Amino acid sequence: MSKPLKVALLGAGVVGSQVARVILDEGPTLEARIGRPLELVGIGVRRMDVERPGIDPALLTTDLEALVARTDLDIVIELIGGIEPARSLLLTAIANGASVVSANKALLADDLAELSSAAEANGVDLYYEAAVAGAIPIVRPLRESLVGDDITAVMGIVNGTTNFILDKMFSDGSTFEDALAEAQQLGFAEADPTADVEGHDAAAKAAILAALAFHTEVRSDEVFCEGITGVTPSDIAAARQMGCTIKLLAVTKLTDDDRIIVKVHPAMVANRHPLASVSGAYNAIFVNSRDAGDLMFLGQGAGGSPTASAVMGDVVTVARNRRRGTAGHRSAGYTSRAVAPIGESEAQFYVSFDVVDRPGVLARCAAIFGHHGVSLRVVQQNNLEPEDPADEGAPGARLGVMTHVTREQDLADVAEELRVAEFMRSDVRIMRVEGF
Ligand SMILES: NC(=O)c1ccc[n+]([C@@H]2O[C@H](COP(=O)([O-])OP(=O)(O)OC[C@H]3O[C@@H](n4cnc5c(N)ncnc54)[C@H](OP(=O)(O)O)[C@@H]3O)[C@@H](O)[C@H]2O)c1
Repeated sequence: MSKPLKVALLGAGVVGSQVARVILDEGPTLEARIGRPLELVGIGVRRMDVERPGIDPALLTTDLEALVARTDLDIVIELIGGIEPARSLLLTAIANGASVVSANKALLADDLAELSSAAEANGVDLYYEAAVAGAIPIVRPLRESLVGDDITAVMGIVNGTTNFILDKMFSDGSTFEDALAEAQQLGFAEADPTADVEGHDAAAKAAILAALAFHTEVRSDEVFCEGITGVTPSDIAAARQMGCTIKLLAVTKLTDDDRIIVKVHPAMVANRHPLASVSGAYNAIFVNSRDAGDLMFLGQGAGGSPTASAVMGDVVTVARNRRRGTAGHRSAGYTSRAVAPIGESEAQFYVSFDVVDRPGVLARCAAIFGHHGVSLRVVQQNNLEPEDPADEGAPGARLGVMTHVTREQDLADVAEELRVAEFMRSDVRIMRVEGF
């Protein structure tokens, strides 16, 4: 019998427990696929007094430093989450010659370059398919399948919680607060939903996608990030009127001068765009490249078993490399492209605001857009009901303006000028648009 590859697992929670199950229950199948058996030699956890069905308690330890300090490990799988101690544990494992697999988007979004360099210097693998969009194979396609092509844009729905909330607001007119409360009741949102609803989770994934797509270093603090807490039922109504839905998108694109735009924000997505029909807790990622054209990846973005599928794909890949005594090429950080400020991003926008309804106001609004070089594609006017609180005496109207593709900064300048105009009755609401 061939010598087993020794595996240490850090974490036995939602994902780790499912990874342990596959390694412990599917030994012969994994051995056939790898060419050598896997031997799970230890599982690092925080608490020893928790029931862990199917796991031999003798495998458990709370001393994760001692576990990764072993010099006989072939693979360390990190599924504890957070920055520290995960970062130090992975660096120790790499320094001791183990290949590593992680699902930790928060860590990889900040430290991918350092971890990749350490892995390369030590001749070991760093794989992290599960860090973006759970079960969906997207890291490997960007890292390997499309590496002979030039990617121009990656755009995705990478957070199931916000997708569920926005769907709910769209389908039954719920406010953001009511939709969030329902998501929490059903277990689709955490008690503290900040990382999801403020877009931070999606921003970490956007940074990883941008780094992979454009072979460079991108950290999560370089990602422009706007969450969904400000999305209102009237945004939803406007989207419906325009033949769109609203999704939280993670977007990364190359500019004409070879810089990177990387951003997370709610957007109106035209109903005919493939991302518009991605509902509930599902994730989807849309990739555009020079030669392949458009590609879309769809599937479950979270959950123990779906995420374990992605982790195990990495484990088998690095185990095969290990058996052959090789390691894969580093995935990112070998070119140097700058992240462009959000003001230089180009998009279509939907702009809505309330005005006094009297002759000449529409023309003055159009002039403000024109003055900043923003051309208009669709203009809608809805009369405000007389009892509307905004209607203090004179009749009012709500204007909705869909622009052509324009520079974000030019649109910001339009909004600034509109806000101080004497005919204005409300703030200016801006929503980015895709696929219209
Ligand atoms: N859950 C998902 O659907 C999903 C999807 C994609 C990616 N991920 C990523 O996968 C990773 C794991 O997520 P999860 O949902 O499985 O987390 P989880 O359910 O909270 O499990 C975390 C595990 O790590 C252990 N742990 C945490 N901190 C530790 C420490 N300082 N020392 C020792 N053990 C520690 C915990 O021990 P105890 O069991 O003793 O508490 C637990 O077993 C995260 O990076 C997450 O972002 C998760």
